[in-house]
Amino acid sequence: MSAKFTRRTLARLLGGASAALTLPGHDVLASTLEPSPTHTPNPSRTFPSDFLWGSATASYQVEGAVNEAGRGRSIWDTFSHTPGKTHNGDTGDIADDYFHRYGEDIRFMKDLGLKTCRFSIAWPRIFPTGTGAPNPQGLDFYHKMIDGLLEAGIQPFCTLYHWDLPQPLQDRGGWENRDTAKAFADYCGYTVSKLADKVQHFMTMNEMRTFVEQGYGIGVHAPGLRLDEKRLAQLTHYVVLGHGLGLQAIRAHGRPNTKAGIADNLTPPIPVFESPENIAAAHTALREENAMFLTVLQEGRYTDRYLKRLGANAPHFTAEEMSIIGAPMDFTGLNIYQPTYVRADSSESGYALVPNPASYPHMYSDWLKIGPEGLYWGPRLVADTWKVKAIYITENGTSSSDTIAADGQVYDTDRVMFLRNYLTQLQRAVAEGVPVKGYFLWSLLDNFEWADGYSKRFGISYVDFITQKRTPKLSAHFYKEVIASNRVV
Ligand code: FCB
Repeated sequence: MSAKFTRRTLARLLGGASAALTLPGHDVLASTLEPSPTHTPNPSRTFPSDFLWGSATASYQVEGAVNEAGRGRSIWDTFSHTPGKTHNGDTGDIADDYFHRYGEDIRFMKDLGLKTCRFSIAWPRIFPTGTGAPNPQGLDFYHKMIDGLLEAGIQPFCTLYHWDLPQPLQDRGGWENRDTAKAFADYCGYTVSKLADKVQHFMTMNEMRTFVEQGYGIGVHAPGLRLDEKRLAQLTHYVVLGHGLGLQAIRAHGRPNTKAGIADNLTPPIPVFESPENIAAAHTALREENAMFLTVLQEGRYTDRYLKRLGANAPHFTAEEMSIIGAPMDFTGLNIYQPTYVRADSSESGYALVPNPASYPHMYSDWLKIGPEGLYWGPRLVADTWKVKAIYITENGTSSSDTIAADGQVYDTDRVMFLRNYLTQLQRAVAEGVPVKGYFLWSLLDNFEWADGYSKRFGISYVDFITQKRTPKLSAHFYKEVIASNRVV
């Protein structure tokens, strides 16, 4: 028989095989999992039956409609409209037009089999000037969108602050002003009181370190400031205080079953290889490298080494503030993308960060170094160190130089490779009993990637930003199979 295959018929057959990717039949998948004389499936690639598979997006990155339904201006409107601040001058004015197209996007989520979806609320849609009178039309949008998720059987996870600070608050000093932390708590309390019948899980903030360092430290994100060390340390303190006050407000205005947490991009220290000494060093590094963010949230105090390092530039704080900041959360959300390698060291700290060579591999975004073990060590160290009972991976994913192929498909094999390797490490953590309850893939759709504008695509669905047409990528089919079979495929 094989002798009859010409090059041309073989090519046609291979073409047929790739077309079949668009229709992944689960019966086909099931049959590949049956034991065969040469192969027995490895059951350890599975996840618990109640594991929550989700996707993640953020308001300014997907919604568009910036001048609709009474929305006020945010620092990202100002920043992206300032010449030279974003790639190509891109803005979030239209983005994915999710404000109007969320129905179509929720159908896609349902088709993927998502159990949950993480989105954020635009503070300036709820309070157009940050404080004062709320804007009912803003809340209406979120009510309708959340109703759509619930009808599709998808659990909403809501982030209250994913960086779109109302511009009038920045005009009064932004996070440098302690009043911003109080205004944030008022916004959290009001929003949660309105949504808690429909939403169980709330996150106060997304990636404190990113918006502090990029926005106020090196000025490459909104509001584009470069504060000195002393001012930045005080601002950082008001940010974590904002989290703590937000947590209090969620507790005060939520329902008995409301769960409150954070979505933090901790620096996940990875033992450069897994010797007992390097693992011990990674534990120490976890607390010290995250001293001003996750550590102070979990412990209610800054580490001695952090305060000593800052010396006269250390923040001013009161005991009362520290107990607000350290109030227990119901869950810890971790956004994990890239690794930080750590080794044991004879220095006073007991650890050293290991630099990467120039040849270290990264994904399409230069910053996105590949380190799948972060999805094992991140949650494991957090659970071991702070006895955290529930962890969610609130973001993980990658950019790719996606293009539409001649057959209309997007073959993002690099993203599939990335996800499969990271999920393999996550499965390792879960199998060892680390309490990871869910995973949110960043992102459902290509979207406005902050200073990179539309030049870096992170979606599992390709968006044509002229026509707004969505095309699920190969990675969407991969993720659908992962969810359907509840295992790494
Ligand atoms: C994270 C952000 C998210 C997105 C991804 C790629 O730092 O939280 O909004 O930009 O990176």
